[in-house]
Amino acid sequence: MKLFDVYPLNNITIERAQGVHVWDDQGTQYLDMYGGHAVISIGHTHPHWVNRITEQLNKVAFYSNSVIIPSQQALASKLAKVSGKTDYQLFLCNSGAEANENALKLASFHTGRKKIIAFSKSFHGRTSLAVAVTDNPAIVAPVNQTENIIFLPFNDVAALTTCFEQQGNEIAAVITEGIQGVGGIHVASNEFLQAIRALCDQYGAVYVADSVQCGYGRTGKFFAHDHAGVSADIYSMAKGMGNGFPIGGILIAPNIKPKHGMLGTTFGGNHLACAAALAVLEVMEQENLLQQAANTGQYLLKELSAIHDIQQVRGVGLMIGFDVPDQLKDLKKELLSKHHIFTGEAKPNVIRLLPALNLTKEVADQFLTALKQGIADLSVSTQSTSTTTTTG
Ligand SMILES: Cc1ncc(COP(=O)(O)O)c(C=O)c1O
Repeated sequence: MKLFDVYPLNNITIERAQGVHVWDDQGTQYLDMYGGHAVISIGHTHPHWVNRITEQLNKVAFYSNSVIIPSQQALASKLAKVSGKTDYQLFLCNSGAEANENALKLASFHTGRKKIIAFSKSFHGRTSLAVAVTDNPAIVAPVNQTENIIFLPFNDVAALTTCFEQQGNEIAAVITEGIQGVGGIHVASNEFLQAIRALCDQYGAVYVADSVQCGYGRTGKFFAHDHAGVSADIYSMAKGMGNGFPIGGILIAPNIKPKHGMLGTTFGGNHLACAAALAVLEVMEQENLLQQAANTGQYLLKELSAIHDIQQVRGVGLMIGFDVPDQLKDLKKELLSKHHIFTGEAKPNVIRLLPALNLTKEVADQFLTALKQGIADLSVSTQSTSTTTTTG
């Protein structure tokens, strides 16, 4: 049987991983500035995470949500402490799309309304409602198209205000990333997030903060949306939550009341997933990783901004993006093939950095050195090509 071919693949097989590094089947070491797709929060195969999952595996890996699973409550308590959202409620699922799907469904149940506001360049996942609020028609199947979604320009307070003035009483939810990831690392302004909060309050809509990629400590605060100083009604989480063990969830404000049967899942919140997620939060606390993400991120942003050949360096903490001019469009490939560094990308020419939160300044320096070298090598080869072209 063949694999269903939906991913363009790098010809690399990863066999081992530790901290911010991975090794392929030839023994080559790679620096993972991509965090395995923004997933690795506390570092690959962190010993505490491995031990906690192993211990749990030897006791019970799974039993259904029809019985009490004490580690779910333990995870809720730990999340309350680390995130500071002490009076919120937790619902557990398995992925980011599922978290957003549940968040939006809950908003609709809660308000009795159908319309959802989403923004240009958003990405919220691939399940039916999550993909409908994603600004990429190429991945929206005909069956997922719905008139219930209103797309507005990102960071545009005036457009948002006008929309609410015209149809505020029909709006169930506004969903936004705190920093757009797939869209190319665009930071939501404090003013924009504050306006969402105020308009949702005024019109009785639910503010959904998609924190799947930008949350879980990546920006130095637990949720990127926290930088604006206002709380959302629902936070969706996944990627960094299990450090690679699949788990997602939503934090739900206390005024949104649960009802039996309203949401449900077979695998969400299983024993193993909770053990992995608890290990992540314990390590985040013990190793002070939010502070480290803030410090290393600030350092990287400053150093990157000083490199002339890249443009529009942006982001917060360890969620960073920059534009690569056309003559350096092979920079990402060059970093991987010559310097053995994984980075992320966004279309058209954006490089995304989403490393583990325990990235040190020393390793950040190794990355910066390789980046400068990559830029220099590509500039030389572009110059010689253009010289050849002009003379030839
Ligand atoms: C902001 C955001 N939301 C939702 C998702 C979907 O998460 P998943 O792939 O776990 O379904 C992603 C994935 O990249 C994301 O970046």
